[in-house]
Amino acid sequence: MDRWLARLMNAQSRWAKPFGDFNHRWLGALFRPIPQLRDFLNGRWLGHPLHAVLTDAPIGIMFLVVLFDLAGLPEAAATQAILLVGILTMLAAAVAGLADFSDTDGRARERATLHGTLMVIALVLYVVSYVLRQGESPAWTAAIGFSLAGFVVIAAGAYVGGDVVYVLGNMVSRHAFRGAGTKWIALEPAELDEAGDIPEGRPVKARLGINSLALVRQGDTVLAVHDSCAHAGGPLSEGSVEDGSIVCPWHGSRYRLADGRVVGGPSVYDQPAYEVRRADAGGWEARRRPG
Ligand code: FES
Repeated sequence: MDRWLARLMNAQSRWAKPFGDFNHRWLGALFRPIPQLRDFLNGRWLGHPLHAVLTDAPIGIMFLVVLFDLAGLPEAAATQAILLVGILTMLAAAVAGLADFSDTDGRARERATLHGTLMVIALVLYVVSYVLRQGESPAWTAAIGFSLAGFVVIAAGAYVGGDVVYVLGNMVSRHAFRGAGTKWIALEPAELDEAGDIPEGRPVKARLGINSLALVRQGDTVLAVHDSCAHAGGPLSEGSVEDGSIVCPWHGSRYRLADGRVVGGPSVYDQPAYEVRRADAGGWEARRRPG
């Protein structure tokens, strides 16, 4: 069944790719001038994607609507109130999802487009169901039919959304499985200046065992973070340095060089930071900063 579902999702690329690219353009134009709003909706203040938190509410609430409808209680004021709350939480989850979507690429963007489209269809079905329940002579059978159809579509949308995160790794920290490590290891900068030192004031790539780091030398101090951006793996050594932070070249996340703290989204995760010192035998060595 999983193969069949994967083929079914892949078959949507024909429309999902151009539609996703179109939405990506206008959402980028919308959020770029207001990064504080995008960061808030991404969940940087929470250290966790806000969309993932908000999506739990409508799915649970709409499941209650199904139960109440099937239990013969569609007319109950509670059922109508729950349906309305479900619609409002769907809208909140959608706004957070749009902020995440504005920084997706490739296959994740296509799959997220399918996810979002299914959720919009489910939202329309629920709104129609809610409207049919109002007035002097509500159409209960049609209202229940629309809300049941809405739940089938919302479940399908949730499946596709799970695929975006668990299969394609969108909004998952790129350092989820990186061990802490406290040993000093020889550091090999990819380039040196004429004096044999690490070039100053700009990011320089370096190898530290199996890891790649982005180094920034400021006088005698060398600051270092992991080269692979926690958001989606962008090469920080190809980024820029601004106000003591390193800026990712892909989507503009900012990490404080001193400790890797994320200070600008779309990343919601801190970046592993490293201590660097001169080795007794010459050259440099580094180890991961604790915490
Ligand atoms: S990869 Fe997206 S901000 Fe770095």
